[in-house]
Amino acid sequence: MSIDNYINQIIEGNCVEVMKRFDDEVIDLTVTSPPYDNLRNYKGFDFPFEDVARELYRITKQGGVVVWVVNDATIEGSETGTSFHQALYFREIGFNLHDTMIFRKTNPIPQIYRKRYNNEFEFMFVFSKGTVKTHKPLMVDCLHAGLELNGTTYKNFSKNEQTREKLAKPVKDKKIKGNIWEYVVGKKQEDQEAKGHPAPFPCELVRDHIKSWTNQGDIVFDPMSGSGTTVRVACEMGRQYICPPSE
Ligand SMILES: C[S@@+](CC[C@H](N)C(=O)[O-])C[C@H]1O[C@@H](n2cnc3c(N)ncnc32)[C@H](O)[C@@H]1O
Repeated sequence: MSIDNYINQIIEGNCVEVMKRFDDEVIDLTVTSPPYDNLRNYKGFDFPFEDVARELYRITKQGGVVVWVVNDATIEGSETGTSFHQALYFREIGFNLHDTMIFRKTNPIPQIYRKRYNNEFEFMFVFSKGTVKTHKPLMVDCLHAGLELNGTTYKNFSKNEQTREKLAKPVKDKKIKGNIWEYVVGKKQEDQEAKGHPAPFPCELVRDHIKSWTNQGDIVFDPMSGSGTTVRVACEMGRQYICPPSE
C-alpha cells in the first residue's frame, strides 16, 4: 500500500508485520533502538532481528540512513558482542556501515565493580543504503580559532627544488563535530515525559540525527518506538513520521 496511507501515524503491531505493508524505498531516516540482548521484558514482543534488518533495507530510500542505537549485555563474564553481529549483518544484506558512532552518557549508571571499567557508552551505528543523500553536519567551535600555526610544509615535491612554505591559514572558527556525541540521560525537562519507559533515548540524540541526515518534509521512522521519542522529535522538527507503538 502507498506510504501516504501511513504518514504521520502511529500504527499498532509487530514492526516486521507493519513494515511489510510499506512499499519499497519510502523512508528517508530511521532512528531506533532495539531490545538489547533481551535484557528487559517488553510486554512479550518477539524480536526477530534479521527480519527487522531486511525489512529496514527494503523500505529505506536510496541514500537513506538507519541509526541503530545498541549495546551488549554482559553474560557470565563476557560481553555478548551482539552489537557487532548486528552491524555486520546490516552490511551483509547491503547497507554501508557508514559510521560507527558513540553515544556517551555524561551520567552513566554506576555499576558493581567486576574488574572492568564502568560502561558509559552505547553504539550508534549509522547504516546507509548506497551513498548518503543528505548530510548536514553539526558544527562545533574550534578550540584554537584564529590561531596562526608556525608549521611549514613542502611546496615543491621535486627532489632538487624543494621549498618549504608556511603550512596553515589561521585556524577556522568552526569545524565538523566528531562522532562521539555526549548526552545526559533522563535529566532534561524534555525527557521527563518518557520516564515511564525503561529505556528511552534522549530527545537531543534524535534531534541531532534528524538535523544531520534529513530535510524538512522527509519521512522519519522508528520501528521500535518505545515511548515515542523519535516521533515526538520528528514532529517538532517538521518531518513526517511513521511508527509502530510498542509500549
Ligand atoms: C530500547 S526500547 C526503545 C526505546 C525508545 N527508543 C524510546 O526512546 O522510548 C525497544 C522497544 O522495542 C519494542 N519492541 C521490541 N520488539 C518489537 C517488535 N517486534 N515490534 C515493535 N516493537 C518492538 C519494545 O517494546 C521496546 O519498547
